[in-house]
Amino acid sequence: MKNSAAFGTIAWESPANIALVKYWGKHGNQLPQNPSLSMTLSRSVSRTEVNWKPAVGNPVHRFRFEGRENPKFEARVLGYLDKISALMPFLSQNELEINSLNTFPHSSGISSSASFMSSLALCLVDIESILMNQRLAEPEFFRRASTLARLGSGSAARSVYGGFVHWGASEAVAGSSDDYAIPVNGSIHEVFRNFHDAVLITSSQPKPLSSSAGHALMDSNPFAKVRYESARNNIGELMRILGSGDQDAFIHLVEQEALTLHGLILASDGGKILMEPATLEIIRKIREFRTETGLHPSFTLDAGPNVHLLYPDEERAAIKAFIENTLAPICENNRWIDDEVGTGPKRLPVAGCRLPV
Ligand code: PMV
Repeated sequence: MKNSAAFGTIAWESPANIALVKYWGKHGNQLPQNPSLSMTLSRSVSRTEVNWKPAVGNPVHRFRFEGRENPKFEARVLGYLDKISALMPFLSQNELEINSLNTFPHSSGISSSASFMSSLALCLVDIESILMNQRLAEPEFFRRASTLARLGSGSAARSVYGGFVHWGASEAVAGSSDDYAIPVNGSIHEVFRNFHDAVLITSSQPKPLSSSAGHALMDSNPFAKVRYESARNNIGELMRILGSGDQDAFIHLVEQEALTLHGLILASDGGKILMEPATLEIIRKIREFRTETGLHPSFTLDAGPNVHLLYPDEERAAIKAFIENTLAPICENNRWIDDEVGTGPKRLPVAGCRLPV
């Protein structure tokens, strides 16, 4: 059989991630204005399956989300496939049927674009290597997936790896690049290796500011230059902290990063307020609890109102009780998601595919 006759199915699962040093501001073709560093989650994942077959004429790709048609999401996916087709010629010779689902609820404060775009990019790189009958070595495979995921959503570049992941050219991280993310798990202190992230849902309303609009606002933000410089410094400092296990320094840096992100959003043209009263209430309670107990919970925020509570495994019992008794009642319908650092994407078993021979 010729390569062009091959058809089949590939599926990948990819986790969401939470940035500790934030990416906020971009230029060119989805390139970051500053490096970022995140922790990949474990239970909050997207699962994406791609069926492909040779196209007769112009390919018509199709997308379904959680078993249903979703024209808005489909338009985004088709736009993405179009954008990367010059980099992946098989996309203009094959027709794709893409099905995806998330294990976490919508608007839960967990960025689904990162997990979805990462799972899709992994499927595409996998299909490409099957069609070309050329298996990439593992580092190249994931690097290519990270580059392609980045073109769909910047933070998706980081979801291609487990543990702690860095994206963006930085003097502090050898081998780093604006084009793709790299894992930085080599010298992580054990206190951070089993870190937890409890996502406290204060509002499940759609975000009033999309991340693309948010990144664009940085172009006219008067504090942009100083922000990009401080993020660069924070990467160096966070790398030191992750290696040394200095939890007090971690708390200080991560909370400062979260509040800086919202400070930038407040200070940008039109001044958006993305925090809710419950966001501030939860932050206050976390800080009070820390002072009273000497334990080490910290918070971070994405560009939205929900709070990510980060904490070490050894303090799990006390912090889980604190969440259940004190924080959950402040959340919308008592909702929170119990997640932790994870090992990264997985290829899922599928019915099989017919390989080119
Ligand atoms: O990947 P995007 O374009 O959705 O931007 C993500 C921006 C933040 O989530 C706020 C920060 C980050 O680094 O993930």
